[in-house]
Amino acid sequence: TEPLRLGIAGLGTVGAGVVKIVRQKAQLLADRSGRHVEISAVAARNRDKDRGVSLSDYAWEDDAVALATRDDIDVFVELMGGSDGPAKAATEAALNAGKDVVTANKALLAYHGQSLAELAETKGAVLRFEAAVAGGIPIIKALTEGLAGNDILRVMGVMNGTCNYILTRMEEAGLTYQQAFEEADSLGFLEADPELDVGGIDAGHKLALLASIAYGTQVNFEAVELEGIGRVTIEDIRQAGDMGFRIKLLGVSRMTGRGLEQTMAPCLVPATSPLGQLSGGTNMVVVEGDQVGQIVMRGAGAGEGPTASAVMGDILDIARGTRLSTFGQPATSLKPCTPARATTS
Ligand code: HSE
Repeated sequence: TEPLRLGIAGLGTVGAGVVKIVRQKAQLLADRSGRHVEISAVAARNRDKDRGVSLSDYAWEDDAVALATRDDIDVFVELMGGSDGPAKAATEAALNAGKDVVTANKALLAYHGQSLAELAETKGAVLRFEAAVAGGIPIIKALTEGLAGNDILRVMGVMNGTCNYILTRMEEAGLTYQQAFEEADSLGFLEADPELDVGGIDAGHKLALLASIAYGTQVNFEAVELEGIGRVTIEDIRQAGDMGFRIKLLGVSRMTGRGLEQTMAPCLVPATSPLGQLSGGTNMVVVEGDQVGQIVMRGAGAGEGPTASAVMGDILDIARGTRLSTFGQPATSLKPCTPARATTS
């Protein structure tokens, strides 16, 4: 069989992680998928940066669109980030050229997921995004495959590790919000625009993507009721603790008779519950299905190994010939999303 040839755009933490897996686990990937997985070409802003892995075997492109449309790639792996600009242009170019796309870009899909998924289907291409939500936790596969026989009643979770880190440090080390924020910044946790993290926007993108799969509706990020963690004080955290609760930036989505509820906001969770036991920069996703009951998945939501792990899972699906729909069903069959305001019940 022919090898599966990748073009990787973006060689930051995640991109470097994917290159390492392809190089170091060649045999395992071939055994599991039945095809050799190769890298043909890469694109990144800085050619000279040391990424801890050799890139000399691969062709370089300065332009992501040029990379995405090369004849010698089968899968365009988009790890640049950004909801518009080069990431969107290159993803569209790849799909238009009939290439499959694997992306870790939550913002791109939160805004353009519907049109990109429709484009992929029109062109007979696959577009997958496991790494975009909760990093290493395979929640997209869980919802689209393992749980596909369920009516999903609720999807909830902590989907931004940076916010959970800040809240945990305020709680455990008595830091103010500002001190904890600065510590997270010094550790390199924050997105280029920190408001994406602390404003709950990044987590809201992820919640909207999960809701689309869970309820068969078009992604509607604009309908997520958003509140960030910037107004949470140590006093709030102490009072919650006295009552046996912890404060988490919690996403909740639920289909009601009035429409889809999606909220991402600081919430009280019982300290003894799975969500209440989540500390540090970790993610947790809780799914309730009518048949399966409650499922809890916990793990690293960011970082080189965990995010590259999710990207590789999608690449291997494509290598195996699995032609899954982006949101678990044909994009044209997704219902328009009617938002409902959350109630306190
Ligand atoms: N800024 C994100 C987080 C990175 O802290 O979870 C992973 O999407």
